[in-house]
Amino acid sequence: MVRAAPRLALLALALACVAASPRAALGSSVGFGPEASRALDLEAWERLQELGEITDASDGSLERTFLSPASRRAMDVALAWMRDAGMRTWTDEAGNVHGRVDGAAADAAPPSSPPSSSSSARSAAVLVGSHLDTVRDAGKYDGALGVVLGIAAVKALVLEYGGAANLPRPIHVVGFSDEEGVRFGSTFLGSRALVGAVPDDVFDRVADAEGLSFLDALRLNGFEGTRAAVERATLDPADVAAYVEVHIEQGPVLQRAREPAAAVSAIAGQTRLAVRLRGDQGHAGTVPMRGRKDAVAAAAEMIHDLETRCTPPPPREGERGEAAEEEAAEVHARDATADDDDDESSSSSSSSSSLVDDSLVCTVGDVRVWPGASNVIAGGVNFTVDIRARTDAARESAVADAIQTFEATCATRGMRCDVERAHDAPATPCDADVAAALERAVRVTASEAAAGRGGASEAAIRSEQGGSSEGGDSRGGGGGESLVGQLVSGAGHDALAMAERFKIGMLFVRCLDGVSHSPLERAEPEDVAFAARALAHYLREVQEDAEGGAKEEKRREGREEL
Ligand SMILES: *[C@@H]1O[C@H](CO)[C@@H](O)[C@H](O)[C@H]1NC(C)=O
Ligand SMILES: [Zn+2]
Repeated sequence: MVRAAPRLALLALALACVAASPRAALGSSVGFGPEASRALDLEAWERLQELGEITDASDGSLERTFLSPASRRAMDVALAWMRDAGMRTWTDEAGNVHGRVDGAAADAAPPSSPPSSSSSARSAAVLVGSHLDTVRDAGKYDGALGVVLGIAAVKALVLEYGGAANLPRPIHVVGFSDEEGVRFGSTFLGSRALVGAVPDDVFDRVADAEGLSFLDALRLNGFEGTRAAVERATLDPADVAAYVEVHIEQGPVLQRAREPAAAVSAIAGQTRLAVRLRGDQGHAGTVPMRGRKDAVAAAAEMIHDLETRCTPPPPREGERGEAAEEEAAEVHARDATADDDDDESSSSSSSSSSLVDDSLVCTVGDVRVWPGASNVIAGGVNFTVDIRARTDAARESAVADAIQTFEATCATRGMRCDVERAHDAPATPCDADVAAALERAVRVTASEAAAGRGGASEAAIRSEQGGSSEGGDSRGGGGGESLVGQLVSGAGHDALAMAERFKIGMLFVRCLDGVSHSPLERAEPEDVAFAARALAHYLREVQEDAEGGAKEEKRREGREEL
């Protein structure tokens, strides 16, 4: 009785939103049938749990490294699920597992083989995937989520279209053999193989703990294990319309915003610095404070300055309210910058900290002290700096400020210091169209959930209600409108490697307290179902666009029967 009224109001709200959406005419606002819903809501969750049990560790923790026995079992399981979804499957020479529905393009592609390189743009597949390997003592969701949801979304679409052959456009799911880089200390080996970018030293020099090389490991597992064979795994960009990856957020932003999922606008760029300080080693008891050259004290000052430079100011007086509101404000600030171009003038003036891009994060994660004794003034300190931001301008500005501050501190203290720029990677934008389509898919899914259709996600309903009744934010009341908009990925993913050749898009899923690379990693079943539905909506929109395109083509050729 009490429940009926808000339900109806939400339904009306959701329908109003759907009617306003340009997708409504194409029908992507419609939910999924019972079988497809089961694949998305329940089976995907069960499969994640099943995959989470496939481990090399005897102590019950989760560990699957490149081509380990557990990895081989996980590959077989993923291949079986792909076939169950109606895909033809194969394993490439870098150990990646593939499944593909060719749809209307089936005639063009030979069965049981990678896509031919002669396919036209219309038969280019949306590629969906993530990695099947894990770190040691891992969680069940990092990587596995993207593979399992890719398979679930394809299964749902095949069911909805009444068979794989009825899909207008191919969809290709991939489970990467290595992303975490645990075995060979080199990340993204699976995805780098697909873009032809496995590093030379992985072929020539790198060995695992047993002294086996990457190619040895492949050969021992029945692959050809030659550089030429691995290079055959490279995909032709003409065959790939876009690469889309669903991944746990590995951060707390969605949880703070009470959102189940959000599209990603960019993967942050990264700079790593190696800083080495040399002071004067001495006796902690006998050397007076004045005139010391204490490397630890100098490092502490530098690290503190860096943290200050990179931290956005607290909310102004008057904006201060409930903690949740502050957090929401933080998220909005992030969202508000999401459409700017890379060349924006950001935070070049460190005196005006309000200009600090709040995707900027600066971390000193490793500090080494020489000699490291309680009664000795340190003679040397080495520390690392990791600086990341959504825009290269914001990152470069922070790096320049950091180096300048470090050098000034060294000069003031009369110490020798050496700052090495150890690594630079530019920010990688997601394709704007793919990101916008994923954002639409999130909104449609939230509307559906709010309207209680097709296995509604309670989490989404909560988020919907939060959006329209809490925080007093005008943007939140739009009936399924995402509060978060688009997020920035602070971590690299397979999508980062894939971006070398393909358009990319990512969908982040809320994870508990932002914890990952840990057995405490957790995504809620409702959020997994929400993401599965959002991905399926996205893929359906792509299919409908292809359908529309095909009809358009026929019309132009005058073959359309009116
Ligand atoms: C700092 O790095 C230099 C150069 O790599 C090395 O020689 C030195 O031992 C390091 N110091 C510490 C405290 O790790
Ligand atoms: Zn991952």
